[in-house]
Amino acid sequence: MSWEAARIGAAAPVFHFPFSISHEQDITMSKLQGKVAIVTGASKGIGAAIATSLAAAGASVVVNYASSREGADAVVNAIAAKGGQAVAVQGDVSSKADAEGLVAAAIETFGHLDILVNNSGVYEFAALDEIDEVHFHRQFNVNVLGLLLVTQAAAPHLGEGASIINIGSVVTRVVPPGSAVYSATKGAVDAITGVLSRELGPRGIRVNALNPGMVETEGTHAGGIIGSDMAAEVVAQTPLGRMGQPDDIASIAAFLASDEARWLSGEHLYAGGGIR
Ligand SMILES: NC(=O)c1ccc[n+]([C@@H]2O[C@H](COP(=O)([O-])OP(=O)(O)OC[C@H]3O[C@@H](n4cnc5c(N)ncnc54)[C@H](OP(=O)(O)O)[C@@H]3O)[C@@H](O)[C@H]2O)c1
Repeated sequence: MSWEAARIGAAAPVFHFPFSISHEQDITMSKLQGKVAIVTGASKGIGAAIATSLAAAGASVVVNYASSREGADAVVNAIAAKGGQAVAVQGDVSSKADAEGLVAAAIETFGHLDILVNNSGVYEFAALDEIDEVHFHRQFNVNVLGLLLVTQAAAPHLGEGASIINIGSVVTRVVPPGSAVYSATKGAVDAITGVLSRELGPRGIRVNALNPGMVETEGTHAGGIIGSDMAAEVVAQTPLGRMGQPDDIASIAAFLASDEARWLSGEHLYAGGGIR
């Protein structure tokens, strides 16, 4: 576990709004003011967009990454360029020591913790006769064990008004052939979300799952999903008629993180342009 002291924009940011800015924009930009967030797997894709969106709403953000330091640094720099605060922290969420180190880095850097977005995830497809232990453990270790370890490390630092957002998937509803293990990990994410909403609710901590449909990310490009027949089929079955983009998910995460969602807990929000 190592983490960069590359904290950027550590001084309190000063926002200079043009006088034409609307009241609504003003509120949107400050609805997470003073909050501290960890976003796991924020070096690219959906996690990067969520980190950027939380920072734009005023949160100080820990941008976790596993291997893509360059990607994480780019996210931190983009946040700092807009007057926000962020730090890149390396850590494999499936390691208990790294999960604890990630949370310790957040507390050390920003002093407290209010928002945890469990976004780190891996996905690969295999038909029943292709499933083996490696395929199973790779996905369960990151998508399920990793979520539990980071949440376990974070929970003692979270208090009244805190928000945990677990990134699930519409695959639990759509159940695509070849996704038995991946869909099982996301089914586990839904179940854990419900359980933890009950365990942590008495302390005023909300726990919700945000379940995207197919989204164009570095991961879906690298996996050959974007441009495939499967992707075309998904778009054809999507009432809103297009592929999801990371920002489509990030704005919902910012809402769930905020006090505007104060009465939501234990929910699974499906964000897939209407796909069922
Ligand atoms: N894209 C979709 O269509 C879609 C749809 C539904 C749900 N989701 C879910 O959304 C989340 C993000 O998906 P994405 O498409 O944005 O993925 P992505 O582009 O492949 O990015 C994955 C992120 O997870 C990080 N990560 C992987 N293994 C990790 C580990 N062991 N510890 C810490 N971080 C780790 C990666 O870090 P490094 O790059 O630094 O290694 C990267 O930042 C996942 O949970 C995925 O299941 C995605």
